[in-house]
Amino acid sequence: MKKSCCGSQIISLLYSLENRGKPANELRSVDMFIPMCMMSLLHLISLVLSGFQNSGVTHVLVTEGAGYIGSHATLRLLKDSYRVTIVDNLSRGNIVAVKVLQELFPEPGRLQFIYADLGDVKGVHKIFSENAFDAVMHFAAVAYVGESTLDPLKYYHNITSNMLVVLEAMAAHNVNTLIYSNTCATYGELEKMPITEATPRVPYHGL
Ligand SMILES: NC(=O)c1ccc[n+]([C@@H]2O[C@H](COP(=O)([O-])OP(=O)(O)OC[C@H]3O[C@@H](n4cnc5c(N)ncnc54)[C@H](O)[C@@H]3O)[C@@H](O)[C@H]2O)c1
Repeated sequence: MKKSCCGSQIISLLYSLENRGKPANELRSVDMFIPMCMMSLLHLISLVLSGFQNSGVTHVLVTEGAGYIGSHATLRLLKDSYRVTIVDNLSRGNIVAVKVLQELFPEPGRLQFIYADLGDVKGVHKIFSENAFDAVMHFAAVAYVGESTLDPLKYYHNITSNMLVVLEAMAAHNVNTLIYSNTCATYGELEKMPITEATPRVPYHGL
């Protein structure tokens, strides 16, 4: 991967990696939602970062930085001169995304990758003890509509229980700023962008 690699190349790389070998029904839901959700999420990240300005935030923990949303959030944070620590268990994401980011931002201290599972309570507390985070962007999740209907407990466990682990570690270590990305399917099939507070919620349940 060349050092001149830019965000759109990372998008293409991750998109093709994500879609490899995926069943047609999963592909359909991913195809429909990713471009529009991605756009609104990146817009949101821009807004969040403008809020970070002059707030003293310098070091951000990004959970799932090897995943689709987290790698883009990390790219944006690094471009805006923040320090980033990625925590990811690589169950779904791709370490190549992290390597691309490390090549783009090789300066010592800019980007740290920690391989860990957020369900590991002791491990998560250790990470917080050893790093002074100013904010957390929590994106680690499993995020496929079809799979969530087949194995809902796996989803509750990874999304709900593990989120509590992150929140408890934040509380214990006095980290008070959290950016959280929930489902990208809350608004159904969008007819109009961007998503605003007035956009009706039509949770997407079926394929
Ligand atoms: N993809 C989109 O367009 C989009 C849009 C809006 C919101 N979201 C939401 O953002 C979140 C992430 O979505 P994504 O598409 O980037 O997913 P993804 O599958 O690309 O990435 C998920 C990442 O989380 C990691 N992970 C999962 N469980 C973990 C755990 N227990 N500990 C540590 N790491 C773990 C995986 O290894 C992977 O790298 C989901 O909540 C999703 O609903 C996604």
